[in-house]
Amino acid sequence: MAIQFDVADRTITLHTRATTYQMQIADTGHVLHLYYGPRIDGECLDYLHVLTDCGFSPNCYENRMRREISPDILPLEYSAAGSGDYRVPALECVSAEGVVGADLRYVRHGIVEGKYALPGLPAAFGEGDQAQTLSLVLSDAATGLEVELLYGVFDGADVITRAAVFRNRGDAAIRLDRAASLCLDLPFAPGSSGGEWELLHLHGRHCMERMPERVPLMHGIQTVGSRRGASSHHHNPFTVLMASDTTETQGECLGIMPVYSGNHRTDIELNQADAVRVVSGIGGDLFGWQLDPGDSFCAPEVILCRTDGGMEGLTHHFHDFLNRHLIRSPWKDRVRPLLINSWESMTCDFDADKVLAFAAEAAKLGVELVVLDDGWFGARNDDNAGLGDWTANEAKLPGGLKPLSDAIHAMGLRFGLWIEPEMVNEDSDLYRTHPEWALAVPGRRPVTARNQLVLDMGNREVVEYLYGVFSALIRENGIDYIKWDMNRNIADTYSTALPPHRQGEVSHRYMLGVYELMDRLTGEYPEVLFENCAGGGGRFDAGMLYYTPQIWCSDDSDAIERLTIQTGTAIGYPVSAMGAHVSACPNQQTGRTTPFGTRAIVAMSGTFGFELDPARLTDDEKRRMRALADRYHRFYNVIHRGRYYRLTGLEGWGGYVAWAFVSPDGGQALVNLVVTRTHANTHGIHLRLRGLDAHGRYRLAEAVVEGCERPDGRILNDAALEDRIFTGRSLMAAGITLRPMRGDYPGVQLLFERVGGDS
Ligand code: GLA
Repeated sequence: MAIQFDVADRTITLHTRATTYQMQIADTGHVLHLYYGPRIDGECLDYLHVLTDCGFSPNCYENRMRREISPDILPLEYSAAGSGDYRVPALECVSAEGVVGADLRYVRHGIVEGKYALPGLPAAFGEGDQAQTLSLVLSDAATGLEVELLYGVFDGADVITRAAVFRNRGDAAIRLDRAASLCLDLPFAPGSSGGEWELLHLHGRHCMERMPERVPLMHGIQTVGSRRGASSHHHNPFTVLMASDTTETQGECLGIMPVYSGNHRTDIELNQADAVRVVSGIGGDLFGWQLDPGDSFCAPEVILCRTDGGMEGLTHHFHDFLNRHLIRSPWKDRVRPLLINSWESMTCDFDADKVLAFAAEAAKLGVELVVLDDGWFGARNDDNAGLGDWTANEAKLPGGLKPLSDAIHAMGLRFGLWIEPEMVNEDSDLYRTHPEWALAVPGRRPVTARNQLVLDMGNREVVEYLYGVFSALIRENGIDYIKWDMNRNIADTYSTALPPHRQGEVSHRYMLGVYELMDRLTGEYPEVLFENCAGGGGRFDAGMLYYTPQIWCSDDSDAIERLTIQTGTAIGYPVSAMGAHVSACPNQQTGRTTPFGTRAIVAMSGTFGFELDPARLTDDEKRRMRALADRYHRFYNVIHRGRYYRLTGLEGWGGYVAWAFVSPDGGQALVNLVVTRTHANTHGIHLRLRGLDAHGRYRLAEAVVEGCERPDGRILNDAALEDRIFTGRSLMAAGITLRPMRGDYPGVQLLFERVGGDS
């Protein structure tokens, strides 16, 4: 049993394969958090917590004669403001009668097989043999507010998910001002020798998403969050707490990932006792949810994963978990078609003939899916007009989309389309007909971005309308792929469809509307491959991955910039989810020129595709592109189903970045390397591989060197080495040395294949 209740100790223990999580119901009804760490069976761990009278840390009334017991010091399973716990609260609320905060005490708990689901929200899934659910109900006597804490325990995956449902069982309305799903007290220093906690988070901006930053925790509260109405380019909803001595391959790591695409907030507080509290879930300054008597509110899920396997171990856990228990598209297990996207080569400037010529040329080069990006609809000749009018621009596409789609299908290709359902331009028929569907604060001119407004996705009418439009669009035009974009953040969080006292609900209702639309469209068209996008990676999060198996990683397609963006992204998110394309050089975002083959190596470590005009490639590039299509298919399994290893850590080493994929059975290892800064007089590049079969015998089956001035094309020391049989042990312990490389941004791909065992 993954979840156990011990009647004598009043402990509830959650076990996964390698971890144990324990809580205890105290006499007062407080639920204490006892432990989250390496697996321990059959023990009550309440001896860990020393009780001391700590000045200015108060006592609940029942313990007024026991000053050593304070809700401000004891680790708690869930905490509310106003209860004598001054640490960062998970719950903040006020009732219509003016009762502020809550004093939450145990009511009941239950254990069921399988994983709970959350109505209207993305959430991990698991059957009875993969997951169990704990429901733990607490309530506040003064207001009648009930909080149901949900724990999904995934034994084999070493993951615990958390969610919370709030119910008003009282007689007066209650407004939730903060309703986090996860509260986790970590009372003890990490590591075996009492180290200190450090925090890793993924910050960024448009065209530079998910830059890893690792900092020591300071006393006080550190917050990672977004108030933009989207999970954002700026602060990704994924944080990692780790011991200061945790490395890439060993040490304690704890990953916290809200399954949410809107405003999120993770607070990490290092408090007076040098203990850490993590509070995570829905965020936003303007959040306020009105619960009338009898109403309930379901807060988004947070995934929690703990390992002693270092950053690499955490990455592998998250990749496996998201692939198996979160991404639900049937496409996650299918080879994704090799695509070409029109955006960087055409923007909105095309007509049917141009698109057909583009498709015909791409078909010759091995492309399987042609994606027509922005510009095909309404009066969309630039990005100032047309959003909202989702019928084809007949001046560009006479007869509409269908003839184009048919012609592309006739070439043996699939046909994909860009849409941006959540937005509207003032210069559109939709806005002229329904100005009230755009979010705007009464009496104030709306804030614009990219000269567009945001539709009120919390309004049922809007969602119904969009569903009708896009369902018909896909059906009537034989669309095989949809790129779902979202190109601005929300500023005017006011909905004319809601009364004044519910305006704090706008952002979350917006997300519920987006999720509903995605749910209906992806459910109705499971064969259509959906790719998410928000000006590149502005909504790269677990919430979106529930609906779409891939997300355009960044509008920066420069291979060198992508090394950092993709490395940061892949700390938590699977490689097969990262949209990555080969684009033209000089690169449109950076002006940098990199070798064609290096660009391909980087893009292949994602979904892979092209974003360039095939007609403008040189003959040599066309030949390479055909060869790449073949390589993409041959390497697909090892890249997309294999384990991912950052051979040079998060930041690369001394001018190069190397990473590898090893197939699940250890039979193939694909080593990738890009030189980001070429030096003179170097002594070669030394790499140690990881994840191989130590007893296996391997040979170098394929070696590709791109953009490197080397007449003999060799990468290892001499030709003999290229025929040599290596043992898995030697490749991991001693490694390989690549010869020094000259030139601008050389790239290398080495495929090692096992030729036998028992070296
Ligand atoms: C966003 C996307 C791009 C492209 C443009 C079209 O910026 O990230 O890939 O689709 O919109 O307007």
